[in-house]
Amino acid sequence: MSHEVVEKNVGLMAVLILLVISVGGLVEIVPLFFLKSTTEPVEGLKPYTALQLEGRDIYIREGCYLCHSQMIRPFRAETERYGHYSVAGEFVYDHPFQWGSKRTGPDLARVGGRYSDDWHRVHLTNPRDVVPESNMPSFPWLAETVLDGELTPKKLDVMRTLGVPYTDADIAGASDAVKGKTELDALIAYLQNLGTVISSRR
Ligand code: HEC
Repeated sequence: MSHEVVEKNVGLMAVLILLVISVGGLVEIVPLFFLKSTTEPVEGLKPYTALQLEGRDIYIREGCYLCHSQMIRPFRAETERYGHYSVAGEFVYDHPFQWGSKRTGPDLARVGGRYSDDWHRVHLTNPRDVVPESNMPSFPWLAETVLDGELTPKKLDVMRTLGVPYTDADIAGASDAVKGKTELDALIAYLQNLGTVISSRR
């Protein structure tokens, strides 16, 4: 009888559906804010260096995430190809996350150390020079733009307010750490660090 009341009253049904979804969602999501495995850095995780952080901004600016994910799922096919699946503790210093979901190109979560700096230099300038069938765009301007480091300390400082443990010395030295480097140097420094804290590959 009472079920009939719900079925015949769209408004009531909508309210009850919302209630069920909210409770279900909260039960799944709220514990994640308190679990150690999702809020604490994995052992050995270091904040990005000033140069890596600048590289990360370039990764975002150039839209690399539109073709590349940084999230290895815990399936055989993925771990065989990319290495150990991604764990939450690897990303606690990432603001915002670069997990992505589009995979026009390979996942980059553990690309650090897979190729030499020189390979990246050539690949980013013109991918076809090293991967003839590649349809990744070229980014030749990265090598021509030199960082001035003006905003770098501010960027580290903002990250600190979000919980990344930078020291005063890190922030004070941030400008000098990137000055004279090109955007390409910064991006490569970022890529070479990706996923390296968990090294077991294959
Ligand atoms: C339009 C899609 C697209 C965009 C945008 C893109 N890529 Fe790619 N990327 C690819 C494809 C496809 C491949 C595979 C072929 C190759 O290696 O070039 C690839 C390969 C790579 C690889 C080699 C990965 C491996 O494991 O072999 C790296 C590193 C990489 N991209 C970095 C970047 C970076 C950094 C950017 C942003 C500056 C970027 N990509 C932007 C499509 C893209």
